[in-house]
Amino acid sequence: MPVSLVTGGAGFIGSHVAANLVEDGHQVVVLDDLSGGYLENVPRQAAFVQGSILDQLLVDKLFSDNSFDFVYHLAAYAAEGLSHFIKRFNYQNNLIGSINLINASVNHGVKCFVFTSSIAVYGALQPPMREDMTPIPEDPYGIAKLAVEQELRVSHEMFGLEFVVFRPHNVYGERQNIADRYRNVVGILMNQLLKGEPMSIFGDGNQQRAFTYIGDVAPVIAAAVRYPEARGQIFNLGADVSYTVNELARIVADVMGLECRVRHLEARNEVKVAFSDGSKAARVFGKGQTTALKEGILRMAEWAMVHGARESCVFQNVEIVKNLPPSWASVISRVG
Ligand SMILES: NC(=O)c1ccc[n+]([C@@H]2O[C@H](COP(=O)([O-])OP(=O)(O)OC[C@H]3O[C@@H](n4cnc5c(N)ncnc54)[C@H](O)[C@@H]3O)[C@@H](O)[C@H]2O)c1
Repeated sequence: MPVSLVTGGAGFIGSHVAANLVEDGHQVVVLDDLSGGYLENVPRQAAFVQGSILDQLLVDKLFSDNSFDFVYHLAAYAAEGLSHFIKRFNYQNNLIGSINLINASVNHGVKCFVFTSSIAVYGALQPPMREDMTPIPEDPYGIAKLAVEQELRVSHEMFGLEFVVFRPHNVYGERQNIADRYRNVVGILMNQLLKGEPMSIFGDGNQQRAFTYIGDVAPVIAAAVRYPEARGQIFNLGADVSYTVNELARIVADVMGLECRVRHLEARNEVKVAFSDGSKAARVFGKGQTTALKEGILRMAEWAMVHGARESCVFQNVEIVKNLPPSWASVISRVG
């Protein structure tokens, strides 16, 4: 039975990947510090270790105690827009934390390291983004993701570490963290409606994204290690039909049976149109299922309505307040 570590397995995508791995017959260990995830998300057949990927001693002990065949690294703080203002935290958590896992994977002979990068590595390149484009990330989140991709490349060249990289985009669905005001637009809109508040949209709402249902991507990530031709490769992963955020808001309100009340906030500095070409992943892993946006939103809304609204927390320790969007600045606390 293959033994797999899933970091971030109490989070949204990680918990689905962990569940898929359990189904596929893996023995699964989840490492998560619960900073953005919930214990209830962890599949009950998985062993759970609460701790941080930044805790090098814990990471080394975990790898010594378990002979991991595969590492699925999904732990990260994925607040792309906020990452400009929390650079140090972003690079520690998303880059240095990843390096701890890469080091341990090399030292303990892991057979394949699966990493969830992001469409954020492309920045403002002309969509649809393709894997053969030279990435130009526009924010620290994307820079950290790209740096980890590069680290995996050189760790393969230097030490033979096998890897598969996925660049998913705008994934939504059941178990997404709907309490985080800085990321997950679908979750933010649903949480606001559940609380009886208008949905907040940055700028005119004409920014376009292709929203991806979790059930269409988690099984592909879990199965990646079974495809020899995927080794050493980078794959875009996700839907290729794009919608404006205004269209998304209308669909969310519609499936929840609520009035579509929107509050437009000052525009923030973000990429206007972002979606990617998923044909490379389709060639290697097969076409797979593509859940229509309305259907996927309905499934997530059914889960969210049972689950209820969650109180949004405020990010502690913002490092830079200059140019922070006003709606964030009013609720933020800062360290020097
Ligand atoms: N959701 C998306 O649309 C999307 C798109 C592209 C890439 N990704 C990437 O996929 C991965 C999963 O994202 P998600 O949307 O499921 O987010 P999530 O917040 O739901 O899951 C991340 C999990 O990582 C955990 N975590 C964070 N820092 C940690 C640390 N230092 N040590 C241990 N655990 C830690 C959190 O507690 C959380 O459970 C991330 O790497 C993210 O960058 C997500």
